[in-house]
Amino acid sequence: MPDTRPSRPDDDIRAFALRVWSYKQGEEVSLMIHLGDRLGLYRALAGAGACSAAELAERTGLHQRWLLEWLRSQAAAGLLASPDGERFTLPTEAVPVLADETSSLWFAAGAFHGTLHPEVVDALADAFRSGIGLSYDDLGPSAAHRVERMLGPWSRLALVPTILPALDGVEARLQAGARVADVGCGAGVAVLALAEAFPASRFDGYDPSQHAIHRAQQNLGQAGHPNVAFHLADAADLPDQPTFDLLLTLDCLHDMPRPAEAMAAIRRALADDGTWLIKDIRCGSTWQENLRNPLLAMLYATSVTTCMSSALSEPGGAGLGTLGLDPRRAEAMCRQAGFTRFAVHDFDDPANLYYEVRP
Ligand SMILES: C[S@@+](CC[C@H](N)C(=O)[O-])C[C@H]1O[C@@H](n2cnc3c(N)ncnc32)[C@H](O)[C@@H]1O
Repeated sequence: MPDTRPSRPDDDIRAFALRVWSYKQGEEVSLMIHLGDRLGLYRALAGAGACSAAELAERTGLHQRWLLEWLRSQAAAGLLASPDGERFTLPTEAVPVLADETSSLWFAAGAFHGTLHPEVVDALADAFRSGIGLSYDDLGPSAAHRVERMLGPWSRLALVPTILPALDGVEARLQAGARVADVGCGAGVAVLALAEAFPASRFDGYDPSQHAIHRAQQNLGQAGHPNVAFHLADAADLPDQPTFDLLLTLDCLHDMPRPAEAMAAIRRALADDGTWLIKDIRCGSTWQENLRNPLLAMLYATSVTTCMSSALSEPGGAGLGTLGLDPRRAEAMCRQAGFTRFAVHDFDDPANLYYEVRP
């Protein structure tokens, strides 16, 4: 018999409280994921079968009691399998998501960074009062590294083998020797992947974040490509004449305080037969369309802490934010900036769409 009694107000409050506390649980579990990634625990568990805290301690040199509590937290969160709370297995499907940073497009553990610095949280609260957000540099020196670990897999693993071959004539041009700019290059992962694949071409990365450019220089130092230069500069500082055959803006237009001006500068800097590749968040232009995204709340929260905040970090900023550049708006803005061709590519990147734009 179905229970037809009206629910008591207390039941509604209880259910709502549980929903709220589940986000607190997410916050705590997020920190555990960060620690698991940082301490190499997922990598130690990958392929190891059922493992006790003592065995994990032996493998990692870490303290058994701390590991047991961490292992239980992970099993409680459904990330490890453990029928008895004593032996723990990292499931096969978890390996590409939590342990395999070098060759998996699904790697996600790098996106977890623990809690924000209290001063950054204070500044965000102030932003609600002043209306002026935080630039990427205002988020502190570690922000560029966090972005690098979150977005790096797609730049490193998909750009050269999957994305560039889909753009009309671009690969051949890079093989022959072309000028390429990556605007909003962050830690330079995309530039370095391209420079390695196309040694005859020349690459310039631009970013207004000193922390990002510092990180990019460090990465360049390790990779040692002679055909790469990074510049502490924003989109408005691009050369005023047609210079580049390929221009990239990867996951950054919606972060820019003045995206329309950036697009106009990109048009001036791009050769008439050049290509502009935009990577931006996969989203629709209506609330209803976006409600289908199971991670919508995360995207809006990221917008508040990072994307919209950066896009409002100057007075009069456009403030597009994480979900602000859907394909319809992107195309309209590109046409406004003087581009006439706009094609959407879907590479099965769960977070992003790609736009091939030409004068
Ligand atoms: C989410 S990160 C993406 C970094 C990199 N493209 C990647 O895919 O890893 C956004 C970047 O946009 C940069 N940015 C913000 N405003 C900018 C502007 N006006 N011109 C160029 N880059 C900008 C930020 O400093 C940050 O490094």
